[in-house]
Amino acid sequence: MTARPLTTPTTPAEYAQLVAELLEHDRRYYVDNNPSVTDHQYDLLRKELERCEAAHPSWILPHSPSQRVGHAPLSAFTKVVRAVPMLSLDNTYSEDELREFCERVSRGLLAAGISEPATYVLEPKIDGIGIEVRYTDGVFTQGTTRGDGTIGEDVTQNLRTIKTLPLLLRQPVSLLVRGEVYMDRAGFDKLNAERRAAEEEPFKNPRNATGGTLKQLDPRNVAPRPLKILLYEGVGELPSIASHHELLDYLRRLGLPVYPDIQRVTGFAALREHLGAWQARRPQLGFDIDGLVIKVDSLAQREALGFTARAPRWAIAYKFPAQQAKTRLLDIEINVGRTGAVTPVALLEPVELAGTTVSRASLHNWDQIQRLGLCKGDFVLVEKAGEIIPQIVTVLTECRAESAAALTPLAPPTTCPECGDTLYRRPGEVALRCPNSRPCPRQLREALTFFCNRDAMNIDNLGPKLIEQLVIKGLVKDVADLFSLTREQLLTLPRLGDKSADNIVAALAAARRDATLSRLLTALGIPLIGWVWAQKIAEQYRSLDRLMATPPEELHKTLAALHGFGEERASAVSSYFADPRSQALLAKLRACGLSPIEPESGVSSGPLLGKSVCVTGTLSAPRGEFKKRIEAAGGKFVSAVTGKTSYLLVGAEPGEDKRKAAAKHGVPILDEAAFEKLLAGEA
Ligand code: IVH
Repeated sequence: MTARPLTTPTTPAEYAQLVAELLEHDRRYYVDNNPSVTDHQYDLLRKELERCEAAHPSWILPHSPSQRVGHAPLSAFTKVVRAVPMLSLDNTYSEDELREFCERVSRGLLAAGISEPATYVLEPKIDGIGIEVRYTDGVFTQGTTRGDGTIGEDVTQNLRTIKTLPLLLRQPVSLLVRGEVYMDRAGFDKLNAERRAAEEEPFKNPRNATGGTLKQLDPRNVAPRPLKILLYEGVGELPSIASHHELLDYLRRLGLPVYPDIQRVTGFAALREHLGAWQARRPQLGFDIDGLVIKVDSLAQREALGFTARAPRWAIAYKFPAQQAKTRLLDIEINVGRTGAVTPVALLEPVELAGTTVSRASLHNWDQIQRLGLCKGDFVLVEKAGEIIPQIVTVLTECRAESAAALTPLAPPTTCPECGDTLYRRPGEVALRCPNSRPCPRQLREALTFFCNRDAMNIDNLGPKLIEQLVIKGLVKDVADLFSLTREQLLTLPRLGDKSADNIVAALAAARRDATLSRLLTALGIPLIGWVWAQKIAEQYRSLDRLMATPPEELHKTLAALHGFGEERASAVSSYFADPRSQALLAKLRACGLSPIEPESGVSSGPLLGKSVCVTGTLSAPRGEFKKRIEAAGGKFVSAVTGKTSYLLVGAEPGEDKRKAAAKHGVPILDEAAFEKLLAGEA
């Protein structure tokens, strides 16, 4: 499909045609990973749609791409009763039981007078949330969760936000299909990194994250979450479809996302040969599966086999054994975080687990150590669950005889291992915390590292090693002290030469000059405030001076009223600004010349209007300078290269990843000279 000449629709039929065209482009981009128009052509079509919908709101179709998000929050989900219940699957972990399943199928077919042996389809058992979606005359009209099987919840608005779910099929057919909503590993890791940065509780695994997301009543909270969907079953009969693999092909032809690489085999022996290969493929899939689903392919054979009360007789879930290994707890390391939370980490005798060597495991808090009854020297079972970091599942008390001599009970620390201060617990929290009253050098180091982070003040030259030296030497006692560091002070640090000292002083001056309010708010590490919320606050208040002049009660009220902000986050911010220690720090920062404002976004003209530019490598001026120029020219400064990025601006020693991503997505690469031409409107 190529882009048609741009003409603004003048009738509802032309508008519907434009909607269908955009949805087909979405499908090619998100489902097939194979777009047929450039981002620029797509953006033009999208703008045309926006213009048309603004001029004719009564034409707007519910399946228009503009309607993926934008529905009002619900107060509760509507219950939906289904005619055909969503059943479960029988499970097995053993090959013997799988053989018995195949034998039962053979006997069942023979009893029904079918002599043709069963062919089986092997599919991944996606570890997500089961859903059902309905299309009416090709239009996505309803999506429901499994619920108790018969009564599910209507989550249409939430499913509509999933980019890989087509809102319009390629043929105007009506059908009901079932599948799984899930998050792939990359999306999940990114989501959790953002949550950690915002001091929000990370999700335990992709499945929990998916379930939690689908339960959101406001689709605007769902849209940014990286949900995906795969469909694998049809409900009711479909014309001229005789088998499961034909159904999957049919769904694919309609534009629906289905898993592309299923296997078809006849007989248990052939089936068994595939099991090992699937286990090996598991880490490379990019999303979590907890086993395979083995299904009889022929729909006629399925009908002959029928169902038990809870599950079909023609399918079984072959679950992979959990990825576990036995090892010994050597010691506990105690970490002190930026906010003073003191967390234990298990140091283990290195052991192979699912393709990696594991020598550390997370222990969430001391309550968990006590619950497990863990002693130093114990043999433990470690498991790789949803998170990449392995967990200790259990203590192998039966192995204690082997190690009795070396066992040492573990007691929670009472003082901070870094500064010796007495630890405390905040009401309602399990975590032990260092009060930071001395102050604690470790917390200071963590806070400084966080302050200099890319998403925060972006001070590249100040790495963790240098920060440690600055703290040890007593040159920096809070983040404000960074801005009064002199060349002479820096030269007192070991192995730091003239050039480095000059660079650091220059980087700090640039950070002070280029700071925006949102960057500073992110950098301060206010509980629950990552960069997304920092930007919201900055857009509301625009300057640090204004923010500081706002009485805490008013600040709380205004922020709590912002969409999605919430009471808890608003309290965190108002308490931070009401705290005399924060006020003193902010006053000190202002005295050091750091009193940032938030630049007005939304420049409505310029040579980069509608373009996004990512920057890599060292340029002739600080990155902040380039950011300002890109934004002033109407463009957007982005931190990663995706298929939607317009240009990659490359300086000296560019990042490999960004160049590779640009090559992959066909993003044009500019050097500084080409960038200047573009800004001058000469390109
Ligand atoms: S078929 C009547 N196929 O696993 C059988 N289910 O434990 C319908 N699941 O409720 C299910 N991947 O949510 C089927 N390829 C797959 C699956 C799959 C994941 C989930 C599904 C089901 C649960 C049963």
